[in-house]
Amino acid sequence: MPDRDPAVTVRVARLHADDAARAAFLAHAPALDELARSALSEHDFSLEVELSRPFFRACAAWLGDAGERPAGFILAAIGADELHIHSVVVDPRARRLGLGRALTRAALEDGAATGQRIALLEVRRSNTAAIRLYRSLDFVAVRVRRDYYADPREDAVEMACELEPGALAGFDVVEVGGT
Ligand SMILES: CC(C)(COP(=O)(O)OP(=O)(O)OC[C@H]1O[C@@H](n2cnc3c(N)ncnc32)[C@H](O)[C@@H]1OP(=O)(O)O)[C@@H](O)C(=O)NCCC(=O)NCCS
Repeated sequence: MPDRDPAVTVRVARLHADDAARAAFLAHAPALDELARSALSEHDFSLEVELSRPFFRACAAWLGDAGERPAGFILAAIGADELHIHSVVVDPRARRLGLGRALTRAALEDGAATGQRIALLEVRRSNTAAIRLYRSLDFVAVRVRRDYYADPREDAVEMACELEPGALAGFDVVEVGGT
């Protein structure tokens, strides 16, 4: 699926593989932490901590120059043959411009290139925007996890996407209404 506006230039950098981009990104860590805390309802979210975890994968997106504040990022981790996407966050002022899709696509491409067979994530059942984003990249719902989230308590939809043909053969696909 093409990005929404082909006139918008989105620059994506792989922070796990690009020290300069990582430094430029972390220069804005306090503001980005605030953005993530508000977008994800995670009160103690810290990018410094997230990017120090072993096996992390992260990409950042800029709408303009890399010196400016990044407009979004994705955090993931690799383990065994899975890419686990933890969070995708886009600045509210830059939404619906294709950044979320560009970031998720970059993470999936990296996962496939490094031998992961599937990508997995959990998302709040009410998060229609994110579920539609993931569906547009061929994720399917494979499980509903009851009361997975707290504050507010809510079910998670576990979604999966195959990075290697046939990798989802053993998974059930579940219907999740309302999205
Ligand atoms: C979910 C989120 C990352 C999407 O980022 P984005 O840059 O706005 O998404 P994109 O512009 O790439 O949109 C890609 C597709 O997602 C879907 N989508 C995105 N926002 C949507 C919305 N508000 N309503 C319905 N569908 C939406 C659409 O299918 C869209 O394609 P289209 O624009 O061609 O119709 C962003 O809304 C966000 O940061 N939300 C808060 C944090 C969050 O909930 N993250 C996900 C859980 S970790």
